[in-house]
Amino acid sequence: MIRLHNIHTLRDELVPRRKGHIAFVPTMGNLHAGHLALAKEARKRAETVVVSIFVNPLQFGVNEDLDQYPRTLTDDQTALQKLGVDILFTPSVSDMYPRDMAGQTRIEVPELGNQYCGASRPGHFAGVTTIVGKLFNIVQPDIAVFGKKDYQQLFIIRRMVEDLAWPIDIIGVETMRETDGLAMSSRNQYLSTQERQTAPLIYQLLQTGAERLTKGESAQSLCADITHTLNQSGFVTDYVAVADTETLLPLNHATKQAVMMVAAHLGKTRLIDNLETDAIGNR
Ligand code: PAF
Repeated sequence: MIRLHNIHTLRDELVPRRKGHIAFVPTMGNLHAGHLALAKEARKRAETVVVSIFVNPLQFGVNEDLDQYPRTLTDDQTALQKLGVDILFTPSVSDMYPRDMAGQTRIEVPELGNQYCGASRPGHFAGVTTIVGKLFNIVQPDIAVFGKKDYQQLFIIRRMVEDLAWPIDIIGVETMRETDGLAMSSRNQYLSTQERQTAPLIYQLLQTGAERLTKGESAQSLCADITHTLNQSGFVTDYVAVADTETLLPLNHATKQAVMMVAAHLGKTRLIDNLETDAIGNR
């Protein structure tokens, strides 16, 4: 595996590799088994695998965890090397944003980017689509792999690629979970011991909630009920929603193509998770 940080050097390195397929996995590092599953999926699908590690300031709000975000480059590099990744791209902030970020050209998917997580994190998804779009332009992959844990992010990236007619196949990979069901996330390490014991409640409520939905319960009462249970258990719930997997618009009643999404704070940690209702039979 080679590690590059310069955009032009990466482009040059990729020229001869374009004879085969290029699969790309953008990350912010601090890799856990969930990220490694994305790299493994990429490895299965293409001759060349590029992984990027870049903690993107543009997608963090002013009071968010940009400074604390865990940076573990040496360990990340070892793990990617073991998986047979070909190129690790680690640009610096000045490589990606050479000018003042306030004047940075942005890519924005309106409407979709302002609801659910976007409602409480204004500008977040524009930060994500801007950096992912820029990385796509640099790497020009045939395939790009993302986790389904960030369901709204995956949905928005698919929409961006479709709207802008970029010839990139976007692959979504199932969420990796700890043995007690907690979705793997770099932010889980912010949890105290006590909070870590409470955190799996989100997935438990998603599982029972998805079952209740498929039995015909209304999404509105179910979401209110889950919000209440979470808040009683020490969470501060941001939202609980049921949406159509085709449009991400809120649904009143589940169909086979529904997804339940939750975002809630536990202490200083913001946790998100989701479950597609058609995943129930497959557990
Ligand atoms: O999911 C993430 O880690 C980030 O949002 C991404 C896609 C790497 C963009 O910075």
